[in-house]
Amino acid sequence: MAGSTGRAPVTITAIKADVGSIAGHTQPSAEMLSAASELMEQQRGKLLIDFRVTHTGDDICLTMTHRHGIEAEPVHRLAYDVFLAAGSVAERQGLYGAKQDLLKSEFSGNIQGMGPGVAEMEIVERAAEPFMVLTADKTEPGAFNHVLYLTFCDPMYCSGLLLSPDVGKGFTFTVVDVNHTEAEREITLHAPEDLYNLAALLRDTGRFVVKSIHSRAYPNEQAAALSTTRLKHIAGRYVGKDDPVAVVRTQKIFPATEEFGLAFSRVPFVAGDCRGSHNMPLAPVPINTDSSIFYCLPMVSAAGYSVRDGILTGPMDLFKNPVWEVFREEAVRKGAEMRGQGFFNPAMLGMEELEYGGIMERLKALDERFVLDGRRNGERAREGSTGSQAGRKPGHGRGR
Ligand code: 13P
Ligand code: MG
Ligand code: MG
Repeated sequence: MAGSTGRAPVTITAIKADVGSIAGHTQPSAEMLSAASELMEQQRGKLLIDFRVTHTGDDICLTMTHRHGIEAEPVHRLAYDVFLAAGSVAERQGLYGAKQDLLKSEFSGNIQGMGPGVAEMEIVERAAEPFMVLTADKTEPGAFNHVLYLTFCDPMYCSGLLLSPDVGKGFTFTVVDVNHTEAEREITLHAPEDLYNLAALLRDTGRFVVKSIHSRAYPNEQAAALSTTRLKHIAGRYVGKDDPVAVVRTQKIFPATEEFGLAFSRVPFVAGDCRGSHNMPLAPVPINTDSSIFYCLPMVSAAGYSVRDGILTGPMDLFKNPVWEVFREEAVRKGAEMRGQGFFNPAMLGMEELEYGGIMERLKALDERFVLDGRRNGERAREGSTGSQAGRKPGHGRGR
């Protein structure tokens, strides 16, 4: 292990959900956040060692440290109860999308698969243990593929891959096929030798999503844990975008905190935005930023922490520095350009990824009015049963 400190393992759990927001999909109310913090506070020094409550757009993120390992039922139950309480406040206040991400009414032992996004990992703290909690709103889990690929695989973006022997040994990626709903279909790939295989998967951000990353120099050391929830697969319909959360350890055997900056500064186009149905740039924003009326521009915030014996110091708001204004402006500029294209692809998502049923219903209704070889579908069906050639236009036959 990398400089093992002999400390007892600590679990970092980040769980994020949208349980209601003011005036549309903007931000939770102060009362919702207080309700969440009060419930969490009751568990400080008991179930939890420490915690923070933040929000990114309309999503509340609970960052918790504890000793119960990943997928610990009491920790997941606490998160569920906290979201339920905040959602009830939202209901009382008549807020929009109250309890939006609580898709199952009964807690069944693990909050994963119930709507909220979960990213957690158990670690043995290093002598200094820096990590980030990345929270994105108005986008999809695959929105992090771009930054993770560039930072963990490409020395043009992350010079640590050349400068540090440990970082330079590469990383192991576990990638999930989120379209496969019958079982967790995943693959393990090793950077750098699997780079093109990894690229072939990660380019398809709607389907292949990074679930975890481990060091190859120290294979037990986990660099990243990400949520991979697809809400529409749980609910069977669009109920909001699958706004992801990630826990990412940094420094020493991992890329440095600042080595993620260049990839984020590219403000890549991601799926999301208004009605979860568009491609728009991912803007790096400070923690607790509201979602903008500018078509719900996808956004990401980065909360930097240090942890010792489970006690958190932070968050350090990694996109608050004025330098990030430049890249926010770039995101707005790219977004305005894309939005100017209205509904034409690629501004609006392709059919497979479209979250709303409106276009599909319209296409279904139009199906009857399409002609094939000059004849309508209905006519062809009738002809098929009688063998008639009536209504066939000359020169439009098959094999023409
Ligand atoms: P959220 O997923 O953040 O609730 O946004 C949904 C939406 O459709 C915004 O237009
Ligand atoms: Mg919402
Ligand atoms: Mg959201």
